[in-house]
Amino acid sequence: RRTLELIYKNKKSIEEIENIIDIKLNNICQLSIDISNLGIYIFGDNFDGMVQLLNKFENSIDLVYIDPPFNTKGSFYYDRDITSTISASKNDLVAYHDDMDIEEYLEFIRERLVLIRRLLSPCGTLYFHIDYKVGHYIKLILDEVFGSENFVSDIARVKSNPKNFSRRAYGNEKDLILVYSKQKNKNIFNDIRIKLEASELDKLYKKVDSVGRKYTTVPCHAPGETSKGVTGSYWKGMLPPKGRHWRYSPDKLTELDEAGRIEWSKNQVPRVIKYASEHKGKKIQDVWKNYKDPQRPTYPTEKNMEMLEMIVQQSSNENSIIMDCFCGSGSFLEAGKKYNRYVIGIDKSIISKQVDENRPSLEGIEVFSLGEGR
Ligand SMILES: C[S@@+](CC[C@H](N)C(=O)[O-])C[C@H]1O[C@@H](n2cnc3c(N)ncnc32)[C@H](O)[C@@H]1O
Repeated sequence: RRTLELIYKNKKSIEEIENIIDIKLNNICQLSIDISNLGIYIFGDNFDGMVQLLNKFENSIDLVYIDPPFNTKGSFYYDRDITSTISASKNDLVAYHDDMDIEEYLEFIRERLVLIRRLLSPCGTLYFHIDYKVGHYIKLILDEVFGSENFVSDIARVKSNPKNFSRRAYGNEKDLILVYSKQKNKNIFNDIRIKLEASELDKLYKKVDSVGRKYTTVPCHAPGETSKGVTGSYWKGMLPPKGRHWRYSPDKLTELDEAGRIEWSKNQVPRVIKYASEHKGKKIQDVWKNYKDPQRPTYPTEKNMEMLEMIVQQSSNENSIIMDCFCGSGSFLEAGKKYNRYVIGIDKSIISKQVDENRPSLEGIEVFSLGEGR
């Protein structure tokens, strides 16, 4: 596979990483995971946690969302009452540290990506949440491990309200989510749509029919001529205008007309009727403006629940197995449970374990302990 490579100190070859995985795999005492349960939470380092999963879940996980530490060189504190990252004080408990050297950090991520890739199913997708400071290095590492041909999207997510820092730089209100498929074009993508607001529908559908239904009309033809096909032929004695073709075959147009779905103007110009109630919703684009993070999170850096729910619905199906191996507050696990996915969470912070065990929505998830990491 041809790809660009990032060079940094102490970078292992993929074979070396696979060797470490094999050695660990041969020496671990397997967790007895009962897949008939609702899901599992593994308390411990996610490298070891994912090695534990290989026997049962290799090539089986349809969706992985991760929001690892962003190499901020800081520590994240937890205050039972206010868990705002901004207002938490150094006297609070440390939820997790994020202070590796950049090379160590990139290798830490890369080793875990190798395992994530092995665990993903052939129709699996990875969502990697990261910020603008390290995100571009992570993109290269993802290209190396997943293959640049499997790059799906780079989402700009507006994370907060605009900031007025005095830095000589633009205010930073976005982070990014890099999306990769395990196999090109095989990823589950349910094309979730966003419902239009009533005001948007009013703008698009200005007419009202005799029974009060909002509607609009569109031409029966579309740009481009067809020289041979039926959409270039006569319908009701008319040809499509020059440079255009019928939007539907003449038979289909007749069917629509008979069903009352064609509106004829005074000058006998036909147009197809489209009802507001049939609008499929807006396709989701790669700038996400409506998923800001909670002001009062239950855990530092907890992510927006609606965003996680959308990701679950977009890239997995009912009964899919999904995983967040940096799961923090368990937000992604909650989103998955809501839509009947089998959820797997891993985190090495004792605070995460406590928060997740007390999260009512995660009741019924089996907890395993490998031990606390730093
Ligand atoms: C940014 S937070 C995740 C927040 C989460 N997305 C949420 O909505 O609550 C990153 C998490 O990764 C965990 N973490 C860091 N290194 C880890 C490792 N090696 N193994 C498991 N968890 C780790 C931290 O303890 C922390 O909870």
